[in-house]
Amino acid sequence: MSSNRTLMVLPGDGVGPEVVKETLRVVDWLGKNKSISFNIKEGLVGGASYDKYGTPLTDETLADSIDSDAILFGAVGGPKYEGVPFEKRPENGLLKLRKEMDLFANLRPAMVFPALVDASSLKPEIISGLDILIVRELTGGIYFAEPRGIEEVNKDTKKGYDTNLYTTPEIERIGRVAFDLARARKGKLTSVEKANVMMSGVLWREVMNTLFDKEGNGIEMSHMYADNCAMQLVRDPKQFDVIVTDNLFGDILSDCAAMLTGSLGMLPSASLGSIDKNTGKRHAMYEPVHGSAPDIAGKGLANPLAELLSLSMLLRYSFEMKEESDLIDNAVSKALESGPRTPDIMAPGREKAGTKDMMDLVIRKLEEITN
Ligand code: IPM
Ligand code: MG
Repeated sequence: MSSNRTLMVLPGDGVGPEVVKETLRVVDWLGKNKSISFNIKEGLVGGASYDKYGTPLTDETLADSIDSDAILFGAVGGPKYEGVPFEKRPENGLLKLRKEMDLFANLRPAMVFPALVDASSLKPEIISGLDILIVRELTGGIYFAEPRGIEEVNKDTKKGYDTNLYTTPEIERIGRVAFDLARARKGKLTSVEKANVMMSGVLWREVMNTLFDKEGNGIEMSHMYADNCAMQLVRDPKQFDVIVTDNLFGDILSDCAAMLTGSLGMLPSASLGSIDKNTGKRHAMYEPVHGSAPDIAGKGLANPLAELLSLSMLLRYSFEMKEESDLIDNAVSKALESGPRTPDIMAPGREKAGTKDMMDLVIRKLEEITN
């Protein structure tokens, strides 16, 4: 099956280009072996864009991204950009893409592959079989709300402040996404805020309860404070199925959940907009949860599997290619069973793999499974 879909590729900074390059080998493989092809467009984002154009996201790259059917994103940021003015920082390229495309629903699954149980810093019995999903609100809250700023109070003192603000419709739409996802899984939803200290948390809980009364059939919902949720995630993560939370808590809790699985280098994510009533399409961007990892960038050591699993999510959620997505997931799982591993998931008795070796192994598994 050939396709006229456009895949926008934004490798970004640090290890981003390395893991994207290896992941595109699987796109090639699918082209040759499954007759699937996309129109691929590439663009610069983050520091890479800043270096060339003086901005972390140009209008052209944003327009191409908006026009595409899905975006495969690498990572942005690095110590080189620490002195750059705040609005021009690499992270702002990513935040602008999320905001301009209204990618409000961020899905961050944390799954433990059987072969990686020992890579976690937690005891095997706590994490084996773990499969949870964090649904993070991505375009509101403290990341974007006004007022925010740094101002002078007097000649010796400044104040820096941010606003955590949510409206009823913003909470409802992320709540609905979480309900649907929970319904398609084990039906258990935990809504997380700090309604004990934050007004935005009080509203969050109120809106989630009202929504649940109207649309919550088929699921169970409970509430949890964010600090308790952080603790429960390391104490007994398997109590969760789907967690829905705001932008900042989602950022923090998803890093925590990711590490339960042994390595940040394994986790993909999807950021989805709402479905356009006229075209039936939705904007979507797929990216690994890990960042640009400047400490290992350029060394060919990064684990490319989170990027590859992000491609798998892209095929599943944006291109309705479930079979190909399953095939990739399966090949990753098999690649972990034996053979070399990247340093982040190293285990006794395994040889060391670099970024390319890891993907060579996955491609060998793709071939074994399909022949
Ligand atoms: C993430 C990252 C981003 C965030 C940064 C790079 C802006 O940490 O996607 O979790 O804070 O959202
Ligand atoms: Mg983060």
